Amino acid sequence: MQGFIIEGGSELKGEIRTSGSKNAALPMIAACLLINDEVRLHDCPCLSDVYSSVKILNTLGCKCSLSGGTLTVNCKAPVSDHIPDRLMRLMRSSALYLGACIGRLGSCTLSYPGGCELGARPIDLHLAALEKMGVCISEKHGVIECTCPGGLHGAHISLSFPSVGATENIMLAAALARGETVIYNSAREPEIADLAEFLRRCGADISGDGSSVIRINGVKALHGCEYSIMPDRIVAATYLCAAALAGGELMVTNSRIGQLRPVADVLCEAGCDIYGYDDRIYISRKRPLRAVKTIRTMPYPGFPTDAQPLITAVLSRAAGVSVVAENIFENRFRANPELVRMGARIRTEGRVAVIEGTDRLYGARVMAADLRAGAALTAAAISAQGITELGNIEYIDRGYERLEKALSSVGAVITRTQI
Ligand code: UD1
Repeated sequence: MQGFIIEGGSELKGEIRTSGSKNAALPMIAACLLINDEVRLHDCPCLSDVYSSVKILNTLGCKCSLSGGTLTVNCKAPVSDHIPDRLMRLMRSSALYLGACIGRLGSCTLSYPGGCELGARPIDLHLAALEKMGVCISEKHGVIECTCPGGLHGAHISLSFPSVGATENIMLAAALARGETVIYNSAREPEIADLAEFLRRCGADISGDGSSVIRINGVKALHGCEYSIMPDRIVAATYLCAAALAGGELMVTNSRIGQLRPVADVLCEAGCDIYGYDDRIYISRKRPLRAVKTIRTMPYPGFPTDAQPLITAVLSRAAGVSVVAENIFENRFRANPELVRMGARIRTEGRVAVIEGTDRLYGARVMAADLRAGAALTAAAISAQGITELGNIEYIDRGYERLEKALSSVGAVITRTQI
């Protein structure tokens, strides 16, 4: 098993650049399946989830190459509509190949997606929406078979929850479907708007992205384009939280504060100074941290669930009592028991964590149970006294490009090793 050895106690100082967004890149890579032409995606992060997406496209008969941060995808000739179970299990975003495959080929056979175990993570909203668009779905022995006997057509779809993945899947299926699709209560995350902008550059007719009603008029075909993927707002939040924990000052470049308001506001309330201008965010933490008012995770523009483990780590060192309620995923407190091993005082009951801040965390042997839990433990360990051995960092590699290198460049002491 790969691990990080983290020597705590150093402040962070300097400039650090945020990579392209994983959660924007993955649906765009799936969208390439709809395009009978070459696509070049710039600022594509080098992550295991991106490699898994490339494996899926290659298996379907497309050609992909990743070099110097640019992913080139050519899906002129997809030959298969079958995604093997072993590839589906690699990540959650494999579910998006449902909409993309149906949109391009009119049929698809796959199984349930894998990904971080943050809770049940069903795809019922995705499936119900596709059924409304004319897809016949049958499920046997864990295999989902989708056909479209009358062709794919537009539909009015009201989501009972603004699911990010369901909104993306519907957008992918609707881009080439016959007629108009309207998604009510769609997700408003910036990654949805980035996907819409990418599809528009390829000739799609989409409007309303960024609001809770998205309209898609199906077009006959999409063409290739070059596109620069938006910065990863959760990676930026990770750097900000690491600086808040360790102290010091950081300039986080290629980051937009407008997309990170709730996180920046909480960090300010906890005692950090934060300024955003153009595409950079400056953070300084000189004073001891203090507790904040209750935090509740919500769909965008609320407090992002992906930043919740990170902020919980920050609050574990904030004087006073803070409360965090997790409203999106039932199993997203998996960093908490590990933070407790490091000396944090956190009581977790169901979807609520009560954090009594302590002025010191200690190095310990801990495990990453999922992607953001791993990032939170890394940030906590940088600020802890002594050495932390963090295992299961494969999870971290799903969403961060060499996190240890990035943080070491601004003063953290982290090495990757076999543990
Ligand atoms: C995406 C992000 C993930 C982020 C999450 C919420 C990617 C690759 N992942 O995940 O990092 O934490 O948005 O911002 O972009 N749900 C259902 N049925 C469905 C779909 C979802 O009940 O068919 C539930 C989920 O179990 C969860 C909630 O809706 O409780 C939100 O899920 P969703 O917005 O779909 O998240 P993902 O797209 O999986």
